[in-house]
Amino acid sequence: MLDGKKSLFSGMQATGTLTLGNYLGALKNWVTLEEEYQCFYCVVDLHSITVRQDPAELRKRARALLTLYIAAGLDPVKNCIYYQSHVSGHAELGWILNCFTYMGELNRMTQFKDKSSKHSDNINAGLYTYPVLMAADILLFQSDVVPVGSDQKQHLEIARDIAERFNSVYGDVFTIPEPYIGKVGARIMSLQDPEKKMSKSDENPNASIYLMDDPDTIIRKFKRAVTDSDNQIRYADEKPGIKNLMDIYSAATGKTIAEIEKEFASSGYGDFKLAVGESVASVLKPIQTRFDELSKDKAYIDSIIKANAEKADYYATKTLRKVQKKVGFPEKIR
Ligand code: TRP
Repeated sequence: MLDGKKSLFSGMQATGTLTLGNYLGALKNWVTLEEEYQCFYCVVDLHSITVRQDPAELRKRARALLTLYIAAGLDPVKNCIYYQSHVSGHAELGWILNCFTYMGELNRMTQFKDKSSKHSDNINAGLYTYPVLMAADILLFQSDVVPVGSDQKQHLEIARDIAERFNSVYGDVFTIPEPYIGKVGARIMSLQDPEKKMSKSDENPNASIYLMDDPDTIIRKFKRAVTDSDNQIRYADEKPGIKNLMDIYSAATGKTIAEIEKEFASSGYGDFKLAVGESVASVLKPIQTRFDELSKDKAYIDSIIKANAEKADYYATKTLRKVQKKVGFPEKIR
């Protein structure tokens, strides 16, 4: 709870480009949460350097991500969209929580195992303690809920364990965060392998629609989408490719699955794919236009970055002071 409102925290990596899956599955629904929750959307640049980054590229991407969140409809005054590196409390609380986390727990993290096998030349300690910093992100804002995908569930679990451990020693310091279960968005699958989630880190660019793709690219990718050979637009588990396209079309147009089956009862896949592509292009168009406008308005984006860093820092400092006192650090003379 923060100022009488439940708080919600989410962090996102500025690596890769946001996809239609990120938008329809998450972002689009987040816009509706701002009245009910104090929302924090943090560009987690401290996490990003656990794998080597090109500095100029990282800076550019982080800003583009932040801008894209605003372009996608998140009000940057109601929602605190900010950079993790601008709020030193993340790193400070991260250190303290490192001392309340067991190596045995970290050894079980599947993401560490995956990432260290992918980056075997750079298995650094930051990669290992990544989940602890993530716990700090969440606990710093006394977050009640955290919208996480299935790949981050284990990290949220460890955040809860760390919080409970700390609270059992020092009393009620941290809110124990829950996964956000609310109106969940559509689960969008890869266009090339509809059994797999659409992912911004997919190496095949035809598997994902990026939020910045132009209409021609979007339509071309949908035309190439993997389907089946029965040529009927019907929602069925044994037709994962078509099912995915129907989910996308439904999310893009607001039409129900029954309406879609009726609309395309006498069409083939070619026409259907074109309709899906066009509907997605028209959903993304205003976001792209807004992104271009915002990107040109450097002063405005800068002012948002500054104000939100201050706002996040205010709440972070409150929690951090409490924690520092609990663990026995001397009070700072001001
Ligand atoms: N690890 C998350 C991811 O890669 C990003 C993240 C960092 C995060 N801190 C967080 C997500 C706190 C939710 C809450 O997707």
